[in-house]
Amino acid sequence: MSNTVVVGTQWGDEGKGKIVDLLTARADVVVRFQGGNNAGHTLVVDGKQFICHIIPSGILNENKRCMIGNGLVVDPEVLIEEINGLAALGIDVGPDRLVLSDRAHIIMPYHRAIDLAREKAKGKGKIGTTGRGIGPCYEDKVNRTGVRAGDLVDHELLEEKIRTNVREKNFYLTKLLNAEPVEWRSVLQNYLVFAERLYPFIKDVSIELDREISSGKKILFEGAQGTHLDIDHGTYPFVTSSNTIAGNASAGTGVGPGQLHHIVGIVKAYTTRVGAGPFVTELTDDTGDYIQEKGMEFGATTGRRRRCGWLDLVIVKDSKRINGLNSLAITKLDVLTGLETLKICVGYEIGKERIEYRPANLKQMMTCRPVYEEFDGWNQDISGARNIDQLPVEARRYIEAIEDITNTPVSIISVGPGREETIVVKSPF
Ligand code: GDP
Ligand code: IMO
Ligand code: MG
Repeated sequence: MSNTVVVGTQWGDEGKGKIVDLLTARADVVVRFQGGNNAGHTLVVDGKQFICHIIPSGILNENKRCMIGNGLVVDPEVLIEEINGLAALGIDVGPDRLVLSDRAHIIMPYHRAIDLAREKAKGKGKIGTTGRGIGPCYEDKVNRTGVRAGDLVDHELLEEKIRTNVREKNFYLTKLLNAEPVEWRSVLQNYLVFAERLYPFIKDVSIELDREISSGKKILFEGAQGTHLDIDHGTYPFVTSSNTIAGNASAGTGVGPGQLHHIVGIVKAYTTRVGAGPFVTELTDDTGDYIQEKGMEFGATTGRRRRCGWLDLVIVKDSKRINGLNSLAITKLDVLTGLETLKICVGYEIGKERIEYRPANLKQMMTCRPVYEEFDGWNQDISGARNIDQLPVEARRYIEAIEDITNTPVSIISVGPGREETIVVKSPF
């Protein structure tokens, strides 16, 4: 009966895709609840790599249903490309396996144009968004002018919304941002084609999930981004535009919070961040380069080099509190192999004061200095370990320290990108 939520505890790219793919074997349905194609979730199955941007990471597991919840912003062109890409690999993604919520918001070309033009206008002060139109699309949702997936099937309504929105967006694009306007007729033409293709997938996800739960099926909720990119709890304004935390698994799918039974926080064994914003344990030295290269830390969506640093447990402890984490999945432990000494940040210092949490005030966060505990590293290749006793004692101590400091048990340890390169200590299901 255990429904499980997977969330990132850091700034995204913790390895959520790999863990979701792995846990899907024990679930019946996988549902995304927020974000859009700013996400890049990498799965490696039989040595082949797949990157999911919108479709849930359970899609490679045959016979499992995947759903895109109301909390997402969906670029229909990207979704269709993803469906076609999987079909080309012989993976059937028909309406029996994939559902798109009628309440999910649709990313329009003017959202992408505004996202890019705004970042350009901000220059040095830019957020470093993925440029996919995520923020502007969520703005229209909250502004109550957005286009929802359900609107795609009503041609008259779609035309009216596009005409009205384009008029307003073009004023903003041309007058304030010095960018090119968009042409409403071509937008409508393209979106009518997308609508035709996506029509069979569009349903009420809340009702679909209720049916599944009522018949005893297990649901896996797949988060995107990470807790510190959350619009409320993250390093605002260097965040994404949705609630990325476990609580949104309920609002973003239409499933009551009482149905969320186990929350797994994904913790990369070190910390990374792509895009701008404060990062207390960032390493701009050879060790940072070593981790970046060994971990192949390039964005799965934009290809940008990810900033790297030591494991910051201050932010993971915050994530435990905010998400109500029941267990942790530690990923990329193998990347730390070969480092003589490892550091874990256990607190911050501001002036002479020590704090145990990340301050909301960004200027204060910029002045935080990390307080580290040091651990011995290991040299043995750990990618073949399949149970915890096969890890070198130093690696086990590192894991135990994470458990002690966060006061949260570790349920999964990942020692390589492949599905099988995993130690399941205790299944969340
Ligand atoms: P997500 O956005 O949280 O799903 O993470 P990404 O897919 O953006 O980034 C994680 C990267 O690390 C991907 O390239 C994965 O294939 C890879 N990865 C996941 N787990 C492990 C692991 O335990 N070890 C190694 N070496 N790579 C991993
Ligand atoms: P996954 O799901 C890492 C970051 C962007 C930028 C900020 C705002 O793969 O972990 P946006 O385009 O959302 O308005 O950008 O958020 N960002 C991510 N960083 N992983 C992600 O997703 C991200 N999605 C957005 O780099 O700093
Ligand atoms: Mg990613």
